[in-house]
Amino acid sequence: MTTWLGFRCTQCSQEYPRDTPADLCPKCGGILFAAYDLASLAGRVSREMFESRSPALLERWAELMPITDRTVFGRVSLGETQTPLLEIDRLQRAVGMPRLSLKMDAHLPTGSLKDRPMSAGMAAALERKAPVVAMSSSGNAAGSLAAHAARAGLRAVVGVFSGIPTAKLRKIRAHGPTVLQVAGGMDDTEEAITALSRRGGWFNLQSFVNPFSIEGEKTIGLELSVQSGWDPPEVVAFPLGSAGCLLGSHKGFTELRDVGLISRIPRLVGVQFDACAPIATAFARGDARISRFLRTPSFSTTLMHEEPVSGNLALRAIRETGGMALAASDDEVRRAMEILGESGGIFAEPAAAIALAGVLRLVREGRLKPETRVVCLVSGTGLNYMDAAPQRGKLTEPLSLEKIHAMSPADLLA
Ligand SMILES: Cc1ncc(COP(=O)(O)O)c(C=O)c1O
Ligand SMILES: [Zn+2]
Repeated sequence: MTTWLGFRCTQCSQEYPRDTPADLCPKCGGILFAAYDLASLAGRVSREMFESRSPALLERWAELMPITDRTVFGRVSLGETQTPLLEIDRLQRAVGMPRLSLKMDAHLPTGSLKDRPMSAGMAAALERKAPVVAMSSSGNAAGSLAAHAARAGLRAVVGVFSGIPTAKLRKIRAHGPTVLQVAGGMDDTEEAITALSRRGGWFNLQSFVNPFSIEGEKTIGLELSVQSGWDPPEVVAFPLGSAGCLLGSHKGFTELRDVGLISRIPRLVGVQFDACAPIATAFARGDARISRFLRTPSFSTTLMHEEPVSGNLALRAIRETGGMALAASDDEVRRAMEILGESGGIFAEPAAAIALAGVLRLVREGRLKPETRVVCLVSGTGLNYMDAAPQRGKLTEPLSLEKIHAMSPADLLA
């Protein structure tokens, strides 16, 4: 049974009942977080209890989910389960980090971590009997929303900015949603969908505007706690766009600590692109608040939030855990994609390789010891972004069979 109490504003601490509209704080415009009766949960749950359950994404954590009717979990599920935590010895040797591991969210059904927030959001939409769900996205969240809406039988509207990668647009359209193309950037797309949702009465799943989405993302922290034998890694590194995965994981670790199942929260590292780094810039300057960052061109279109609504919360969580925010260059991200591909067998899209790019920079600069127990979130498969895939290794011209029969195998390998 859920111990969900309702919502609390992260800014003014005002509390709201469960049936409050899924939106920002009516009083101050701050971000609402779901609150739980953790005191009553402590002592009623155990490590063994969670370990022994089926690893289904949300249902395993029902006590810590803002869902009262458990049957909705099954009605939104595309088979999501705990994602693997991989230790790849060749990769560890290639980067000189013997305790590095990868949290493989690229394995989720629609190929990205966004199946976490979209599952939780869609479960809430079903409970609230919302006929239409909406989302703005750089592609992956919209693809996941469209898939889960199709699964659950809801109408979906997704906002994307023009210029998203072809593979992402195609994976969205495969499920038949209405796609609103916005001539602008990520922040404009969010504004468009949020405004239309308020006017149309649609259930907007935008992370942080909607407090249910992050409840799905917190399962990253919950799973990592189980997978590390309840002794969480020293450092977890995330891609940082709207900060949903970083702040979600932080919430998951914090709740488990507050019910007494783990004793420590990892240091959280968030990595942005040089091209759009409002949180990393504020962190480097020691500012308490982020400022709008005017993005510059990059080979990736993901993580391009110029002024994320959750930026100040992310900054605070990163500092409180003794973590770091930093920005990586396009070249560093390309290099991380190549290392993952060639030394790990992992095909990651740019926004998914960026966590490793940031970690490698921290090690190079002596800000992180190479023997630290670090987890990098690999948040999306390279199949989402074929245009950015590294083209490595030898590729011959099309050769006739005659030439192939005459060729020496050793020459082909040379
Ligand atoms: C592959 C991938 N990784 C990471 C992110 C960013 O996550 P967040 O917005 O939670 O910071 C996105 C967002 O679109 C994404 O598509
Ligand atoms: Zn408030």
